Amino acid sequence: MPENRLYFGDNLNILREYIKDESVDLIYLDPPFNSKADYNVLYLEPTGEPSKAQITAFEDTWHWTEETEKTFAEIISIAPPNVIEMMQSFIRFIGKNDVMAYLTMMCIRLLELKRVLKDTGSLYLHCDPTASHYLKVLMDVIFGKKNFKNEVIWCYRRYTAVSNRFQRLHDVILYYSKGEDTIFNCPLIAYGDKSGKMDSHYKQDEDGRWFRWQKRKGEEPYKIYLSEGVRLGDWWDIPIINASAKERLGYQTQKPEALLERIIEASSNEGDVVLDPFGGCGTSIAVAQRLNRRWIGIDITHLAINLIKWRMKHMYSLKPREDYEVIGEPEDLAGAVELATNDRYQFQWWATSLIDARPYMEKKKGADTGIDGLLYYHEDKGVVGKAIVSVKSGNVGVKDIRDLGHVIEREQSGIGIFITLHKPTRNMKEEAARSGLHHSDVFKKDYPRIQILTIEDILSGKRPNTPPVITVFKKAPRVNMVENGSFDFE
Ligand SMILES: C[S@@+](CC[C@H](N)C(=O)[O-])C[C@H]1O[C@@H](n2cnc3c(N)ncnc32)[C@H](O)[C@@H]1O
Repeated sequence: MPENRLYFGDNLNILREYIKDESVDLIYLDPPFNSKADYNVLYLEPTGEPSKAQITAFEDTWHWTEETEKTFAEIISIAPPNVIEMMQSFIRFIGKNDVMAYLTMMCIRLLELKRVLKDTGSLYLHCDPTASHYLKVLMDVIFGKKNFKNEVIWCYRRYTAVSNRFQRLHDVILYYSKGEDTIFNCPLIAYGDKSGKMDSHYKQDEDGRWFRWQKRKGEEPYKIYLSEGVRLGDWWDIPIINASAKERLGYQTQKPEALLERIIEASSNEGDVVLDPFGGCGTSIAVAQRLNRRWIGIDITHLAINLIKWRMKHMYSLKPREDYEVIGEPEDLAGAVELATNDRYQFQWWATSLIDARPYMEKKKGADTGIDGLLYYHEDKGVVGKAIVSVKSGNVGVKDIRDLGHVIEREQSGIGIFITLHKPTRNMKEEAARSGLHHSDVFKKDYPRIQILTIEDILSGKRPNTPPVITVFKKAPRVNMVENGSFDFE
């Protein structure tokens, strides 16, 4: 059974249902920051240009709702007394508003995260100045003030719009341990020969290590060695992922691998378990894999889960289910029905990913263009063809096939793919057949113009019949393991 696991779902449920007490060595979490923004997945057109139709992966705006009220009540009934007291004080001075809703969401999850962390484990909470001050109080109470290790400031350069304040050019990473005896491999920065530390008292021995002689009255002189470098400080100057960076995948909140590398190397050893409950496009997981750690990733949207799978495939040739477990995705018809019942959009995104199509959504949720996904293929030398994907989870009829026919015409596309949860009727199949064939001159082949695929067909391995398909996500650079765990991007 593969050791590494990827979960689709709300991390609170996943943590409670699947993650055992004290089973994780390192947690990195990069939750939404309450930034009041929507974050998109930036797909590419086949030309390599960013596509204009982007999909909102998650919304980072919080409201005090009935759900929050229930979660708050749950905290009051299960949390340790000091946490209850803190949350009650918070609510007295903050009120029942968006900030408090955000803190309530975080509090219940941080309690679970503490439960799953080993006594030797550490947690890094990535946030920004909009909520870091509240989160630090929360963390002090949940993890204990004595277990606070650092407030790491991740600084970077970027250019933001003119405003009446200084540019905001840092994030905050709150680093806590669970207990006193914690894994910590402090990164050292090598002393330069001209380093300020190298005053005239220090000499180098035959192995190049720096020492000075200590002389005390009545004692033989002895050597005092310096450690092999200066301990890394708590502000880290690491560039954000620039527009042309190889590792950039188009997930707007993607963090640089260099940042995660530092955290994972400092607070875990090979073979340790790294958990990221807000996985996004899988940066921590990708780095954990490269550094020979075991990993657990969770995300609440199929857009992120698909990107993580994509990244694992292109960086390490890892296959879901064979090389790592995927939990929470439908595996059969019953699971697909459940997903469709719970969330129509997640169902659409999952279904389109099964055939490697790009999910498509108008900016305004609900605006119906008749397009749920796009599959690009090689039409001719240098010409890209576009198949329109329509996904239906409810009852279907012949009208749906005719509608797809109209969309294909309107979009001047060659092929339409109709994915349905329910079996198509005979009339639907006949209507699809009547739409005729799409001819490819290059491949000298005909392809059915409208193709109907049921979810059951796809789950049992059937795929659309199109000319060779073109990749729609930006490919993550393949990692070639060189030696001693070092690596190289292709
Ligand atoms: C800021 S992004 C993480 C970005 C990530 N560090 C990366 O480098 O790609 C936050 C992620 O948390 C996910 N998310 C939000 N609420 C969640 C929840 N309750 N359970 C699981 N994932 C959640 C969002 O879908 C989003 O992908």
